[in-house]
Amino acid sequence: MEKTIILTGFMGAGKTSVGKTLAQKTGLKLLDTDKLIEKQEGTTISRIFQTQGEEAFRKAETNILKSLLKTKEKTKEPAIISVGGGLPLREENQTLLKNLGLVIYLQIQPSTVLKRLKGDTSRPLLQGGDAQEKVTTLLTQRAPIYQKAAHLSIDVDNKTLNQIAEEILLQSNIISP
Ligand code: S3P
Repeated sequence: MEKTIILTGFMGAGKTSVGKTLAQKTGLKLLDTDKLIEKQEGTTISRIFQTQGEEAFRKAETNILKSLLKTKEKTKEPAIISVGGGLPLREENQTLLKNLGLVIYLQIQPSTVLKRLKGDTSRPLLQGGDAQEKVTTLLTQRAPIYQKAAHLSIDVDNKTLNQIAEEILLQSNIISP
């Protein structure tokens, strides 16, 4: 695999899990923007939202993307990159993502998100209030942006990690960014 593959999509879409499967299949390194930010800041995403606010987190996301792009230009090494669910929302990030590699949107239904994230406390945007309403509203707002920010969309509902990864590998050989 010569290409960098970037996985985007809503919280719970499986970006990290699909990323791991793809990394195993291709032998490429897996990078995750949430994890890189947590490492850089020395704390959790929830804590960053609490103490510095969402805007500071969004700035950190853009900075991470810029540094990933610099590294890629220097090393020319392809990778699998999974990004936080809100990262493609900034227009600046959309350009950075497309410069980084093939952007794949993992498309998921709100009901699957709710099933998967029941009891989860690590996503600050889904805490408190009516989870169903939050997921449905956010996903409806974001879906067209995810679509626009990606080269390719793949439905992930009712598919195994292996099926999704194979579909991505097949499509990524056909499509060039
Ligand atoms: C967010 C998604 C999270 C994380 C943060 C904000 C979002 O990542 O970046 O909580 O705005 O959708 P995951 O999509 O990996 O859960």
